[in-house]
Amino acid sequence: MDKPLIIINFKNYQKVSGKSSLNFVKKLNKFRKRKYEIILCPTILTTSLVVKNSKFKVFTQFVNKTNYGAHTGNICLDELQSLGVTGCLLNHSEKKIKFDKLTKIVALCKKKKIKTIVCASTLSEVKNIAELKPDYIAYEAKQLIGGNISITEAKPEIILKAVEEVKKISRRTKILCGAGIHSKEDLGHALILGAQGVLIAHSIIESKNPKKFLEEMLI
Ligand code: G3P
Repeated sequence: MDKPLIIINFKNYQKVSGKSSLNFVKKLNKFRKRKYEIILCPTILTTSLVVKNSKFKVFTQFVNKTNYGAHTGNICLDELQSLGVTGCLLNHSEKKIKFDKLTKIVALCKKKKIKTIVCASTLSEVKNIAELKPDYIAYEAKQLIGGNISITEAKPEIILKAVEEVKKISRRTKILCGAGIHSKEDLGHALILGAQGVLIAHSIIESKNPKKFLEEMLI
């Protein structure tokens, strides 16, 4: 099995925005365990800063244009890639993408060898997205995001089912899960259920010391 993935989504939290992102990233850089793969999803506006200052891979939180061109105010994958971004988080429940658009973006990411993590809020969405054969599908129940009840505790059966269903549709696609993940038990449970890793946001961002948070979670 590949190393478990830990995706840290900065969302638009003030503590990790602008220059403050540096402080957070520098603390994370001190985390040394190699048993896990840590991936950062910084705010769009700090992408370049975080790529330059982080020892971890950086994925974008969103993208809506794949090629350079006359697209005022959009987020362009070619430019992100030139900055060092190696993957993208797509269709987060806080930033949904219409299915036909998502289909095109996932296909182009594959061509450009950019990894894709596509979020899904329900099992039926998981199955539809599996048809696109992304690298990962992240199952996140919307109502649990930002809270302290973890998805592994509240919806273990859906994670299990998602792993099983996705295997039938796309063998290359792995399942991740997120929402309320905050402890080593949550991570352990996610892995037992067959997920390849987890997405974490508020619990690490609000923690006093993100390096210590990771050390306690990733034992
Ligand atoms: O993408 C991760 C996310 O939506 C989970 O958020 O704050 O519940 O860890 P949180």
